[in-house]
Amino acid sequence: MTISRRTFKIGGDAEIRRLGFGAMRITGPGIWGTPTDRTEAIRVLRRLPELGVNFIDTADSYGPNVSEELIREALHPYGAGMLVATKAGFARAGPNQWTPHGRPEYLIQQAHGSLQRLGIEQIGLWQLHRIDPVVPRDEQFGAVRHLIDSGVIRHAGLSEVSVADIKAASKHFKVATVQNRFNLGDRGSEDVLDYCTAHGIGFIPWFPLAAGELTRPGSLLDTIARNHQASVGQIALAWLLQRSPVILPIPGTSRVAHLEENVAAGAITLSDREFCELDRATSQRQQR
Ligand SMILES: NC(=O)c1ccc[n+]([C@@H]2O[C@H](COP(=O)([O-])OP(=O)(O)OC[C@H]3O[C@@H](n4cnc5c(N)ncnc54)[C@H](OP(=O)(O)O)[C@@H]3O)[C@@H](O)[C@H]2O)c1
Repeated sequence: MTISRRTFKIGGDAEIRRLGFGAMRITGPGIWGTPTDRTEAIRVLRRLPELGVNFIDTADSYGPNVSEELIREALHPYGAGMLVATKAGFARAGPNQWTPHGRPEYLIQQAHGSLQRLGIEQIGLWQLHRIDPVVPRDEQFGAVRHLIDSGVIRHAGLSEVSVADIKAASKHFKVATVQNRFNLGDRGSEDVLDYCTAHGIGFIPWFPLAAGELTRPGSLLDTIARNHQASVGQIALAWLLQRSPVILPIPGTSRVAHLEENVAAGAITLSDREFCELDRATSQRQQR
C-alpha cells in the first residue's frame, strides 16, 4: 500500500501531504456567493503552498462556482504537485440549500465546468458529491467511468457512502477516495474507514474539527491539548492523522491565522496512551 506518515498517494500515483485544506469556507454565508472578506480568502489560499499544503478540496456547488474561481485567481498557474480535488452532484437554489442532482449528463457538464473554472486540463481527483437517490446509482457511476475514459478526470472518489456503495462503484471504476463526515466526536463511518484502510483508499473526513462537548474545559481533550500547549482543534486533527494512514483531513477556514494553526497540528504526535484514551473516551460516547 502506498502510504506514509506524512504523505499519501491518491489512486496510487498522486502524492500529496496528508493534511490538506477544505475550500468550502471561502464563500459567503450559507456557502453562497462571495466571502465576506474576499481579500483574506485570497490570502488564505496563497498561504497554502507556503505552508506546504498541496491538497485542496472544493466543489462546483461551493458558492456555487465561487470557491473554484477564487482558487484559480489565487493559485493559477498551480505549482508542481498541487492537487485541487473537486466534486459535483448537488444543485443549489439558495443559501444552505443543497439538492442532490445525479443525472449523468449533469455530472459530466459540471465536471467540464470545473475544468474551465479551475483552469486545468485534467481534474486530478473528482468526487461524486452525493449518490442521488432518485437516479439509478449505476448510471451515476457510469458517468464517472465516462469522465475517466474521456480524460476529463484522472482519479475518482465518492462522498457520504457505505461500504456497499464503494463495492458497487468499484465495478465501474477504481475508487481512489471516500469523503465521509468523521471526527473525534462523530465516529459513524468507522466501518467505511476500516474498509478504506484495508484497501488503500484515501479517507477524507469532513467536519474534522467538530469535537463537540469534548472541548469543554477540564475534559480529556482539553487536558491533552494543555499538555501539548496546543488547541483542542489541533489535537482533534492530530488524532485523525494517527487514526489511520489513509486519513486525509481537510480542515476548512476563511482566516490565515486559523490555517496556520491547523497546519501546525501535523507536527503533533500523540503518545500511544493519549491516542488510546481519546479513542476509548470518544467511542464510548458514541455507544451511549
Ligand atoms: N463531502 C461533503 O459532503 C462535505 C460536507 C461539508 C464539508 N466538506 C468539505 O470538508 C471541509 C471541512 O469541513 P467543514 O469546513 O464543514 O468543517 P471543519 O473544517 O471541521 O470546520 C470549519 C469551521 O471551523 C472554523 N475553524 C477552522 N479552523 C479553526 C481554528 N484553528 N480555530 C477556530 N476555528 C476554526 C472555521 O471558521 P473560520 O473560517 O472562522 O476559521 C469554520 O467555521 C470543507 O471545507 C469542505 O471542503 C465536504
